[in-house]
Amino acid sequence: MQHSAPVVNSWNEWDQLQEIVVGSADNACFEPTEPGSRPSIRNHPDTPFPTGPKSKEAIDLANEELAGLTRLLESQGVTVRRPETHDFSAPVRTPDFEVENQYCAVCPRDVMITLGNEIIEATMSRRARYFEYQPYRKLVYEYWNADPRTQWTTAPKPSMSDGMYREEFWEWPLEQRHERMHSFEFCINQDEVVFDAADMSRLGRDILVQESMTTNRAGIHWLKRHLEPKGFRVHPVHFPLDFFPSHIDCTFVPLRPGLILTNPDRPLREGEEKMFLDNDWRLVEVPQPVLTNEEMPPYCQSSKWLSMNVLSISPTKVICEAQEKPLQDMLADLGFEVFPVPFRNVFEYGGSLHCATWDVRRDGQREDYFGNLDYRPLA
Ligand code: ARG
Repeated sequence: MQHSAPVVNSWNEWDQLQEIVVGSADNACFEPTEPGSRPSIRNHPDTPFPTGPKSKEAIDLANEELAGLTRLLESQGVTVRRPETHDFSAPVRTPDFEVENQYCAVCPRDVMITLGNEIIEATMSRRARYFEYQPYRKLVYEYWNADPRTQWTTAPKPSMSDGMYREEFWEWPLEQRHERMHSFEFCINQDEVVFDAADMSRLGRDILVQESMTTNRAGIHWLKRHLEPKGFRVHPVHFPLDFFPSHIDCTFVPLRPGLILTNPDRPLREGEEKMFLDNDWRLVEVPQPVLTNEEMPPYCQSSKWLSMNVLSISPTKVICEAQEKPLQDMLADLGFEVFPVPFRNVFEYGGSLHCATWDVRRDGQREDYFGNLDYRPLA
């Protein structure tokens, strides 16, 4: 066994994919209103957001597209795994909070991350997602039992009590947001360790972490302290014009060594581009999405930039939403073979192609793509 490839092995976002988990919309519910989330119906901010289970029709439509992604990946020789069934309509009650229902297992990316031979379950930041690791536990046990090289870490669970949140955040007028945009204070405060896995992006030795509504500075500190002794370098990144940042994969999307797709509405904080430019990485702005924010599905809480939430099969093959022609053309110009797949019915479940997946095994080893770096580790 020691001579075969490790069962869990993924060091970046682009090496040849071998095994991946694709989410499922089974039993999905509307995300409840809670201190870390204020869902609203698009273009109808005064109509109350629905609660409880989503309709069978909506779930079937999303599941069809998730099945289409699965078929495409399998046709490319990738092993696809799916989450276990989970009752998301069940309320959650802990000593610190209560919430009327949970969310869904469409976006494993938000919860689970593979960093080399280690699987990390994120702390999560929202109450309805506290137990979202559960649909993946059976798979984790399988990977853990199959290979003694598999490491498995669950990050400390925060209390998610009222005191962890800054509820006024949701009431701040845009002007105040603009003033505060350089302090990076959002709906979670800095008292507890909080992060969602999707705020990270993997570039070999170097891991980017976005400070956001779903990842605080204590969370980034925990990641540094956990990962630096293993030889990783953890870089906090900021996109000050994103007033509601959550998850990095619609903002800053690495596609192969030396190439990152960037979001024209969300430039990197001044100075943070240095590590990329010093190491000959190109930052390439994506074209405007085909849909405007107003045209996104009514229950979708994400922005039009789900357009750039692409999934790499390899450094030359990228999966892109079927209707995003301008981005597809740009990717083709950059030398990629583009695989379009319809995915808009998945949008209201929190994400697109990258969000709805968790890669467990890709080819390749840990590489250093940033030989020219000024990095100060914690210790
Ligand atoms: N907050 C992002 C946007 O609206 C969406 C991120 C979705 N990513 C994810 N992993 N669920 O642009």
